[in-house]
Amino acid sequence: MSFSLRHVISIKDFRREDIDEIFELAERLEPVASGMPCRLLGGKLLALLFYEPSTRTRLSFDAAVKRLGGTSINLGSVEASSVAKGETLADTIRVVSGYADAIVLRHPMEGAARMASEYSRVPVINAGDGVGHHPTQTLLDLYTIKREKRLHDISVALVGDLRYGRTVHSLAYALALYGARIYLVSPPQLRMPEHIKSDLLESNIVVEETSRLEDVLTSVDVLYMTRIQRERFAEPSEYVAVAGSYRLTSEMLSDVRDDLIIMHPLPRVGEIDSSVDRTPYARYFKQSFYGVPVRMALLVKLLEGRV
Ligand code: CP
Repeated sequence: MSFSLRHVISIKDFRREDIDEIFELAERLEPVASGMPCRLLGGKLLALLFYEPSTRTRLSFDAAVKRLGGTSINLGSVEASSVAKGETLADTIRVVSGYADAIVLRHPMEGAARMASEYSRVPVINAGDGVGHHPTQTLLDLYTIKREKRLHDISVALVGDLRYGRTVHSLAYALALYGARIYLVSPPQLRMPEHIKSDLLESNIVVEETSRLEDVLTSVDVLYMTRIQRERFAEPSEYVAVAGSYRLTSEMLSDVRDDLIIMHPLPRVGEIDSSVDRTPYARYFKQSFYGVPVRMALLVKLLEGRV
């Protein structure tokens, strides 16, 4: 069995074997993520190109390559780079792929990472392309479910902004690979796009839709909360109409399954009250930690054997 991807653009490009291989290595690398010295990527240089804000994705990739003995270069703020002078993404990628061994790209335009991969001499990792995909978030989400629960025979509620939330788009496809039962919980205006729903139904998994969190709260194994993506709305009034649609508090958890886990890709802006942090169900900070070993494993798989 060998890892089959050169670029990481969409979770749909992964085979189950690729994901299993990454997870097996990520588990072995967890002590390294916590500080155990390692030189597996000694001499490797990772370029971080973030055209949109990020805390977790940018810093966990940076931590991952450095914990493995490599180093990184960072475009920094777009305003301080030649992007501000009008340089195209294609030219930036051509240049940076001559400096680094791999490129991590976050960009507001859907399809930007796929396009960048056509101009790059080194692997491109999609760290979020507009409302498109965020495959490494999906890997760490799945890994969290595997480490904190299990990946077979589970029911998962995806809650919040299912229209603009790229993490839930990618996660839904990945969960379908594992035969999960998926409950889509959103306001009517923020439903999962029809083309994704029809892809999910073609996978022969159970997919149900509701706008009421109470309909699923007591019956699911995983509650995956998401932020309403204010920055994706064309009109502020449309955002105001749905902002605050869901707010999970500890009082709402009295009848949930004993082994429920609650996840969130973060940042949260009110979907999960801080009272939930102290419950045994909260996993969102552990989830963000798992981003480091998972991204470490992915970098090793992409870069091993490359001179
Ligand atoms: N979950 C996630 O992508 O977080 P950042 O936007 O902080 O990278």
